[in-house]
Amino acid sequence: VIVQEPNEAEFDGMPQSAISTGVVDFILPVGEIPATIVRYHQTRPQVPIIEDKREATEDERVILQKIFGLLRARTERDFSRYKPATVLRRITKRMQLNYIEDLAVYLERLRERPEEVRALADDLLITITHFFRDPQVFEKLEREIIPQLFEKKREGDPVRVWSVGCATGEEAYSLTILMVEAAARFDIAVTIQVFATDLHSAALAKAREGVYSGDIAADVSEERLRRFFERENGGYRIRKDIRELVVFAAHNALSDPPYSRIDLISCRNLMIYLERDVQQDLIDLFHYSLNPDGILLLGSAESIETSELFRVADKKLCLFYKRNVPSREPRLSVFPLTRNHFPVTPPPRNIRILRRSSTAASISRWWSNM
Ligand SMILES: C[S@@+](CC[C@H](N)C(=O)[O-])C[C@H]1O[C@@H](n2cnc3c(N)ncnc32)[C@H](O)[C@@H]1O
Repeated sequence: VIVQEPNEAEFDGMPQSAISTGVVDFILPVGEIPATIVRYHQTRPQVPIIEDKREATEDERVILQKIFGLLRARTERDFSRYKPATVLRRITKRMQLNYIEDLAVYLERLRERPEEVRALADDLLITITHFFRDPQVFEKLEREIIPQLFEKKREGDPVRVWSVGCATGEEAYSLTILMVEAAARFDIAVTIQVFATDLHSAALAKAREGVYSGDIAADVSEERLRRFFERENGGYRIRKDIRELVVFAAHNALSDPPYSRIDLISCRNLMIYLERDVQQDLIDLFHYSLNPDGILLLGSAESIETSELFRVADKKLCLFYKRNVPSREPRLSVFPLTRNHFPVTPPPRNIRILRRSSTAASISRWWSNM
């Protein structure tokens, strides 16, 4: 994404607002934009799978392992359990933005420039989201699932929601709005606690601010805009009392200890980027985190393979209820701790969160999928 240098623009509102999304790759004077586009398109990175669906060569495998190593060392994130095609596509994009065609040269660039490691690590996390994404899902939650949840609550009980991979916050705020509306309908004084976690720090910063462009009017009804938002600089800011119900925190779903005693977990459009076995590991972890009969909501292209731990609430909408059977011991193990993660309830003693350093096993698994 290229944006005009705001100082040069007659009205700087539009470029500033694009820059604030955190997805801009170049900020340039208009005169430099055409040559940049041409150079970007003329750069043809040589990356396995993406270019010609060929197997990676031994040299490329070694280089990619080194790239993973740099990412782990400098950002504490391990991408070796993400799907190879996504990872390689993002590396290709970063190479193009750096006008680099050779993987070994890109590795050198990463070694020389820590900011490129950070940029790659952030690009590997895809933070696209919307308010009330997949409206039928939110209608079902509003009409059936959340009322059932509230019916079981008594005065003073907490209602705990966890939005895993919350990106810039739209999903967490959408769920909070539904909870606040339900609490008013049921006229019961429950404590609403929404935990919203992600690995992408710029996305989390935007989520905490709660400032969104005017475009959200396409996804949020007029009534909700009036009730839960304030107008700000041509856009909308979620109201302070709603912001205060949500705790946004840096948290790696694959390595940091999970929350527990949760009524509703929403983990949408995150598992799709992970390999199958780690998807199952996450499902096991969510089973442990949920209260009896707790609800798990997945993204529209995500599902649960075995039904031992969950039963279907609505297959099409990817909604599941926890089965009240003992949790399996989570296998999630191999990721280092994310810094600054927030305090969570420690798992019970029969649940072991292993913390050994990853790599060899997970990287060889990664390659066997290429
Ligand atoms: C496509 S967004 C989904 C946003 C929202 N859940 C939705 O469906 O609209 C995926 C999010 O998952 C986050 N993510 C990826 N891996 C993660 C991990 N291991 N732990 C926590 N968040 C992760 C990314 O940073 C990104 O913000």
